Amino acid sequence: MMILDGKATSKAIQEEIKEIVAIRMASGQKRPHLAAVIVGDNPASRSYVGHKIKACEFVGFDSSLIELPENIRQDELIDEVQALNDDQAIDGFIVQLPLPDHIDAQAVLEAVAPEKDVDGFHPINAGKLSLGIPSYLPATPAGILEMLDRYAIETAGKHAVILGRSSIVGTPMALLLSRNASPGNCTVTICHSRTQNLAEITRTADILIAAIGKPHFVTSDMIKPGAVVIDVGINRIEDSTKKSGFRLTGDVDFDAVVESASAITPVPGGVGPMTIAMLLKNTLQART
Ligand code: GUN
Repeated sequence: MMILDGKATSKAIQEEIKEIVAIRMASGQKRPHLAAVIVGDNPASRSYVGHKIKACEFVGFDSSLIELPENIRQDELIDEVQALNDDQAIDGFIVQLPLPDHIDAQAVLEAVAPEKDVDGFHPINAGKLSLGIPSYLPATPAGILEMLDRYAIETAGKHAVILGRSSIVGTPMALLLSRNASPGNCTVTICHSRTQNLAEITRTADILIAAIGKPHFVTSDMIKPGAVVIDVGINRIEDSTKKSGFRLTGDVDFDAVVESASAITPVPGGVGPMTIAMLLKNTLQART
């Protein structure tokens, strides 16, 4: 059984990016600059954005954090997005999700200039992805592909089952795994809240990707022996033994599933760090 160490893999990718930045600097090129917009003070979002900014510092990118109040109006937020679109110093930027309920997130994402959309959430980039045209890939599915690739996990001809149909993970993941590419060439099934006989389907998965946001949803009886299990969940559950009062747990019951999987990602330290590495990769590309 192999633990897919996203933390170490992300670190290795970040070292590679750092080297590329250093080479570019030596030849007088501009440092890549990522901006992140955060609205309100969702603690999980703040933590993710903090990791993204720290990673920029590590690889030698410039970064800007734009912190906006929870009660900002949608038109004001879109003005902020426009300002970033127009700012020549910024190569790429993200608007951290989720946004407050009074804001139409889709309208905000559509205001981001596609060439600066390093999250790959703009319809132009999502459309390119669905057509197989090179584009900014959303960080989470891209990070999973990268991990499968770096751990030399065979995907061609395999049955990949994806739990969750979100536009930022499940749907793009399905498109990427079914592409005629490597990694890719999977037969893909997407399962969701209305899927019947879920465990029957997951038990046919050679590669099972859980992205539903329900702690310990995937249990050992749902796994085919030897399956590769990718856990995208980052759920905060109460834990009075921790200083923070919570701990992070995935969508997979790791301790039980680890017995029958051939490879599995831990939470934390699996998919999460990979998404950061992929965001940096997109930002490097945005600068080129
Ligand atoms: N919220 C959860 N995942 C993501 C992500 O990849 N990008 C942004 N902007 N927000 C998120």
